[in-house]
Amino acid sequence: MKYKKIGDILIINNEYLEEDCEYLARKHNVKTIMRIDHIQGIRREPVYKILFGHETETINKENGCLFKLDLSKVMWSKGNNNERLRIAKLVEDGETVIDMFAGIGYFSIPIGVHSNAQKVYAIEINPNSYHYLCENIKLNKLNNVAPILGDCKEHTPKLKADRIVMGYVKTTHHYLKVAIDSLNEGGIIHYHETVPEKLMDKRPIERIVAQAGDRDVELLKINKIKKYAPGVEHVVVDARIS
Ligand SMILES: C[S@@+](CC[C@H](N)C(=O)[O-])C[C@H]1O[C@@H](n2cnc3c(N)ncnc32)[C@H](O)[C@@H]1O
Repeated sequence: MKYKKIGDILIINNEYLEEDCEYLARKHNVKTIMRIDHIQGIRREPVYKILFGHETETINKENGCLFKLDLSKVMWSKGNNNERLRIAKLVEDGETVIDMFAGIGYFSIPIGVHSNAQKVYAIEINPNSYHYLCENIKLNKLNNVAPILGDCKEHTPKLKADRIVMGYVKTTHHYLKVAIDSLNEGGIIHYHETVPEKLMDKRPIERIVAQAGDRDVELLKINKIKKYAPGVEHVVVDARIS
């Protein structure tokens, strides 16, 4: 059986009888067991079933950060844990960072906790995720993360950011122009895409170059995050735009 524990909630990927769930809940010391069938729409909302218990809000600890979230309203991708920390560790002292698809603070919170960024603008379109983003800023006692509710196409601050995180995999390339226009000379974007394996070294970087216009694009790294579907990888491209 495959399962993952998020805070004190167990997520399982198959149906269990009630007796099994009671046993599982005791064994794993959780208050609720849920099955999440899939994540839908641009707001990345879970389609779920509660198999045991009823409370769906929890606090998950990861990489020294606290993430409060309601698993019936917002998603949590356990497979992105290394990437969340990797980005936080790349941020240099005094940087201005924009997190265009902030969610509950998947990247903004670790950046706030583990770096000395001057400011992190965290933009999120889903009011439920935005609510937890604000909660998580308080929970982690951060004073350099500024939450913004809205569509990043309209709300990305028109400034010269040092780094922009694009942690979203549905049509992310449609947002590249907005990102690049807000990026400093020599600034870095972390651009996420789900891409067929055979196009991995080609398509994401070509999309960045296409939107960069006259600006030079230096490929720094292509990082595989996880398998998204058979033959399809979730990758992140780090690119410097001069
Ligand atoms: C759920 S996160 C992706 C997961 C994250 N990369 C991680 O490490 O777990 C993507 C977020 O982008 C938000 N989003 C989608 N389109 C957006 C837009 N145009 N502007 C701002 N936020 C957006 C969604 O609501 C969602 O919360």
